[in-house]
Amino acid sequence: MNRKLPEEIELMRKAGKILIDAMCYAKPFIKPGISTYELDKLIEKFIIDCGGSPSCLGYEGYPACSCISVNEMVVHGIPSKDIILKEGDIVSIDLVVGYKGFNADATRTFPVGIISEEKRRLVEVTRQSFYEGIKHLKVGQKIGKVSHAIQQFVEKNGYSVVRELCGHGIGKKMHEQPNIPNYGREGDGPVVVEGATLAIEPMVNMGRKEIGMMKDGWGIVTRDGLPAAHYENTVLVKADGIEILTLGCDD
Ligand code: MF3
Ligand code: CO
Repeated sequence: MNRKLPEEIELMRKAGKILIDAMCYAKPFIKPGISTYELDKLIEKFIIDCGGSPSCLGYEGYPACSCISVNEMVVHGIPSKDIILKEGDIVSIDLVVGYKGFNADATRTFPVGIISEEKRRLVEVTRQSFYEGIKHLKVGQKIGKVSHAIQQFVEKNGYSVVRELCGHGIGKKMHEQPNIPNYGREGDGPVVVEGATLAIEPMVNMGRKEIGMMKDGWGIVTRDGLPAAHYENTVLVKADGIEILTLGCDD
């Protein structure tokens, strides 16, 4: 887990600000009838106009600027003209924005029109599990405390956490050490250091934890076909607490 310099943190704050402004910009477009491709294009233009760069585009060959995942899609949904949002869907938008060589990463899961009470609760528990986790994100503590708290909270609410995908360190690179699972024992993982910048991202399935991959080689779906939700922020660890670098209109 590396420590960032103050000037690096400043660039990550700026990346985080562009990111969440893009998320807030996209939010009112999330309505029945829009395709995930159209959303991606709106977001891409916004990020570039703000002086940021969409870091996902071209990352290991990824073909779009955002990951947009609907209902049973957990993460890494490739935006498509064929995926049209409809009333009652939930849709997660996962963005990584680069600014002068540093990155921020965040995800929100949005309702499309009126959604079921079951889906609303899934989205809310997923968001809350992030906050339960970061209560334990402190200098000198094991990262496992965060992972454990997320898992406990999610399972207490009757849902499951995905095992194969994790949160991560972030900075110059989108994915840095350490891996931050959303499950595990309190004593697991490295000790948290001051100046660490971490993407904490619970991925929560309404039903079973098992996932599968879509034919496009990117999209991850729940095996049981039940919905999943995702919530993510980039967080800076300071001596006396934490700072979330990707908060905006909805937080
Ligand atoms: N935002 C994702 C993460 O949290 C990464 C997206 S994969 C990409 O790790 F290929 F789209 F970049
Ligand atoms: Co991430």
